[in-house]
Amino acid sequence: MKIGILTAGGDCPGLNAAIRGVGKTALLRYGMTVYGFRSGFSGLIRQEYRELTDRDLSGILTEGGTILGTSREKPFKKKGEEAEDKPELIKKTYQALGLDCLFCIGGNGTMKTADKLAQLGLNIVGVPKTIDNDVSGTDITFGFNSAMTIAAEAIDRLHTTANSHGRTMVVEVMGHSAGWLALYAGLAGGGDVILIPEIPWSEGALSAALKERVTRDKPYSIVVVAEGIRVPESEESAGAHIGRLITRTTGLETRVTILGYIQRGGSPTPQDRLIATELGAFALERAAAGDFRKMAAYQNGQLEAVPLSVAAQKAKTVPPDLPLIGTARGMGVCFGG
Ligand code: F6P
Repeated sequence: MKIGILTAGGDCPGLNAAIRGVGKTALLRYGMTVYGFRSGFSGLIRQEYRELTDRDLSGILTEGGTILGTSREKPFKKKGEEAEDKPELIKKTYQALGLDCLFCIGGNGTMKTADKLAQLGLNIVGVPKTIDNDVSGTDITFGFNSAMTIAAEAIDRLHTTANSHGRTMVVEVMGHSAGWLALYAGLAGGGDVILIPEIPWSEGALSAALKERVTRDKPYSIVVVAEGIRVPESEESAGAHIGRLITRTTGLETRVTILGYIQRGGSPTPQDRLIATELGAFALERAAAGDFRKMAAYQNGQLEAVPLSVAAQKAKTVPPDLPLIGTARGMGVCFGG
């Protein structure tokens, strides 16, 4: 077989581990020919690719980013007067190379594109990544554990400086429209207030919780804010909005930290290396067995091949009745409502 691999969408730690999982299994177990496409779907459109050897895949397990590069190219979305038929160009490249399968390593958007390409007749297998952990059909995506670890460590550091100054620290974490990252990093970092898009919050509940902490002789507070919470459009960020609101409604000395792209950088955690390796190798095995139009996934701790149409559904968000949220509420964590 001849296979192609691409990484698309926002990068995250573990992409190289996944490329290696797919590629090494293809080369070493099956003797397949492996091509790597440059910058996501752009590489297929522009015919930018190279053959990957075992040598290319050595030493990349622990490397952050992606050796293939990535982009947010969405071939099915026409921009303005754009003349080229990008899906057709992708199909041409796929056929000209004589590919038997294309591995699309990406998040929500990538799985949507992958499913559409599969509908055009291409053999596709998806591998789910994203720090947001919001891909439908899988319990977990790689990248999430690394980002959560980075965010939790940052929150740890904010505790000490918040304590020294008796300040309220607002920390904004990524996650797009889902609250997984804020919830898990917030709880792992001992956040006092955690605001996520899935739980409606109110100004009154937020300021009451912070004022109440003062009456309980708590010298400082940590407020973890998911970037996706609803704030007025005029605000530059969710964190900035919450910071200003706290100052206005409580008079507490407040500082805001936006973690941003730091959460996507650096070496993957050992857990993400394992997840990415396992998902990548499993995806290759499915393709070798002729099981296409699927995404490698974890369901209840087991590796499963789920239909790409399931993975392409709307983003997986945090269920507000998640037991972990109940546990946190029982321990005094405020969710703003
Ligand atoms: O999907 C990953 C993510 O980091 C989100 O958490 C964030 O909202 C978005 O990507 C940022 O996208 P970009 O890299 O295009 O700025």
